[in-house]
Formats: sequence, C-alpha cells, structure tokens
Amino acid sequence: MKDRIYLIGYRGSGKSTVGPLLAQHLNWRYVDADTLFEQKHQTTIREYFAAQGEPAFRDRESENLLELSREHKTVISTGGGIVLREENRKIMKNTGFVVWLSASPETLFGRIHADMTTADRRPNLAGGGLSEIQQMLDIRTPLYTQLADLQISCDSLFPDRVAAAILEAW
Ligand code: S3P
Repeated sequence: MKDRIYLIGYRGSGKSTVGPLLAQHLNWRYVDADTLFEQKHQTTIREYFAAQGEPAFRDRESENLLELSREHKTVISTGGGIVLREENRKIMKNTGFVVWLSASPETLFGRIHADMTTADRRPNLAGGGLSEIQQMLDIRTPLYTQLADLQISCDSLFPDRVAAAILEAW
C-alpha cells in the first residue's frame, strides 16, 4: 500500500487543518508544501511570486513535490494550484492516495478572509475576491476531479470528521 496521502483542493478547503489530524491518527509525518516552500526560500509565496513570477514558483513547487513523493508514511498538504501541471498530477497519482477537499466558492471565500495571516502570504491570482475563486475553480475543478481517489465536500464538516472520513476510505 502506498504510504503517502496527498490533500488537494483550493485555498480555504481545510488541507492544513485536516492534514495534521490525519497524520496524528496514522502516526505519520505531516508536511505542508507551502510552509516547506517558505522555509526553503526564506520568503512568503506572495513575495516570491512578485519577485520571480508564477512560472518560477510552479517550477520550485514541482521540484518540492518530487522530493516529497519519495518520503514514506507522510501526509502532504499541497498548494491549491499543484494540479495545474500534468507532471505533478502524474507524480501524485503514482505515489499516493489523493484526497480532494472540496467546498463551495462562498465557503472558501469566507474561510480565506477569516484567516488574513494566511491570505496576506498568498499572491493575488486573478483580481481577488469571490470572482477569483470562481475563475480558478472553473479551471481546476476538472483537474481535481480527474486526479482524486476520494472527494470530500467540506462545507459543513468539522475537520475531525473529514479526517475520519479519509481514514475510513483509505
Ligand atoms: C496557490 C495556492 C497556495 C500557494 C500559492 C498558489 C494557488 O496554496 O501554493 O499561493 O495557485 O491556488 P494554498 O492552497 O495552500 O493556499
């Protein structure tokens, strides 16, 4: 059995809340790919985007994913845009169990803006607000759908229930 679980989904879907709970239950390691990025590059993702551009960020993101795909007994929270590149989708499909935490644009918007510390560290992708989320989801929903081994709708589930549902299905 593959001993990696990848959490995918848009910002605000709960990846970084559910991930540690899941890892704790399994007695596995937990890695948040965005935090790893910021530690490695000693900068916020927002600043990295501004200085180097999105393609450079996506290159580093893919390199980090490849490294993480070699870890064992690890729960990995990915950045919301990880599914954009086919190479990333292949890596996750081949090396782990992929769980998509989905939620409505309104739920995601509410959660992103409730946590301004995180919101401030993330770049603007398409003008911000609810319409940015809707635009991004139009592009990404087919990719999340295609890749996921399991989808959990997280609009009204507490994180411990989401973790329990993943454990049941895994
Ligand atoms: C991004 C989401 C972010 C981060 C980067 C790009 C995106 O991750 O990787 O800002 O394209 O949606 P979170 O989903 O963890 O916020």
